Amino acid sequence: MFHTKLDDFPEDFMWGAASAAYQIEGAFAEDGKGLTIWDEYAMTPGNTFEETDGKVAVDHYHRYQEDVQWMKKMGLKAYRFSVSWGRILPDGEGEVNEAGLAFYENLVDELLANGIEPLVTLYHWDLPLALQQKYQGWEGRETIAAFKKYCEALFTRLGSKVKYWITMNEQNVFIPLGYRWAAHPPKVTDLKRMYQANHHVNLANAEAIKSFRELVPTGKIGPSFGYGPTYPLSAKPQDVLAAENADDFNNRFWLDVYCKGKYPKFMLKQLKNLGLAPEILPEDDKLLASVTPDFLGVNYYHGGTVKENSYEAGDFADASEKDFSKVDPYQMAAKEGEHAPEKAMFQAVDNPYLEKTDWGWEIDPVGFRVALRKLASDYDLPIIVTENGLVAFDELTAEGAIHDDYRIDYLQSHLQELQKAITDGVEVLGYCAWSFTDLLSWLNGYKKRYGFVYIDRDNQDEKSLARIPKDSYFWYQEVIATNGQNLTSK
Ligand code: BG6
Repeated sequence: MFHTKLDDFPEDFMWGAASAAYQIEGAFAEDGKGLTIWDEYAMTPGNTFEETDGKVAVDHYHRYQEDVQWMKKMGLKAYRFSVSWGRILPDGEGEVNEAGLAFYENLVDELLANGIEPLVTLYHWDLPLALQQKYQGWEGRETIAAFKKYCEALFTRLGSKVKYWITMNEQNVFIPLGYRWAAHPPKVTDLKRMYQANHHVNLANAEAIKSFRELVPTGKIGPSFGYGPTYPLSAKPQDVLAAENADDFNNRFWLDVYCKGKYPKFMLKQLKNLGLAPEILPEDDKLLASVTPDFLGVNYYHGGTVKENSYEAGDFADASEKDFSKVDPYQMAAKEGEHAPEKAMFQAVDNPYLEKTDWGWEIDPVGFRVALRKLASDYDLPIIVTENGLVAFDELTAEGAIHDDYRIDYLQSHLQELQKAITDGVEVLGYCAWSFTDLLSWLNGYKKRYGFVYIDRDNQDEKSLARIPKDSYFWYQEVIATNGQNLTSK
């Protein structure tokens, strides 16, 4: 769709940036916080790059006021952060820890006092360890009730101050990485268990939304999904069918449950045939059908390209299937010999038209517009972009600057496509770049940097933990000040 003139960004557009508790807070055992599965996982040798862990992270817990001042100076309109469940309910389900609630209330007050809209994520992967030990985490139905209790404590305390709430962050990433690829806790490799745990997360998501309707009737709530469009490698009908299959497997399997209240039928049938379908009780179906979100949170990094499935194409010698160091949570390959559903559905391939980041992720700004358009057509909900950003190896110069033109180029090209999507007619409420400050990558320490604000620390040495704005910080400041009008002029 070509437009001679693009629409302006809405006047109240939420220009934001995002973070997650485990990746920034530190203070891992302070003020009554219970340990989480990530505390334990990262402290177990061999699980993360150079044994990096979140004990100190970027020390946001002690420096949140300074961080909010950096946001204010930038002109940020919205800040997305997550709450660590273990700070609120140290054992996951029992006593509420007042110090934990107070920390997040202070943060929210600080944001509001500085004109920044808080967007609160309820679950960004740091499950209380006690729930893992007692109920096998998300594999136990008891964890659903615990999540409900945790959410209700937050809704009651912060519901009058926080309007936007995000339930689950990237269920389509943390479930396969934790239960299939053993790259995240609980380090399981079992598809049957994976689909069951995933079903329980769906129920927890629905329970949280149900409680929210009662406790925060004026607020808005929705999940954040790691989404990218699926391209067929060619116009060959088998490849087009493969793209349909991949969309079911990678996207609709979650999105339909969130937005339509039911599993997509082709995927479910396929899982049943393979003996992998979760146990779904009649009351589960009812619960899922009874709630819908107010908006869809979208984390966009890239999409994926596929070709005809290997069974029908008869090509099994694809070496990438065996290279698990390259496993991409968004486009998974099956393990050899495994009854993996996608093997009969599609094969993931590189897109010949796209370049890649330092970390091997395809760079696809047009795919962002495709994604927004497709989600708006399929689910007809307002969208908040809850993550989008570029990971890179940033370098602090001797003069104390970070010249991250590559990040500016990346963000600018994505925001231009976002503006086109708005002009097409997609309702987008806000955009949160990932991330505000540099933060701890789950598996890759501080090698991977995403932030507008550099943090002076490395994997082993906490150094000064000083905050240093990068060139992209000043660029985004200008984007916000002009409500995006400078995007086409650079
Ligand atoms: C998203 C997560 O999937 O990807 C973030 O929501 C994460 O928490 C980001 O940081 C990048 O992943 P990584 O592994 O580079 O930190």
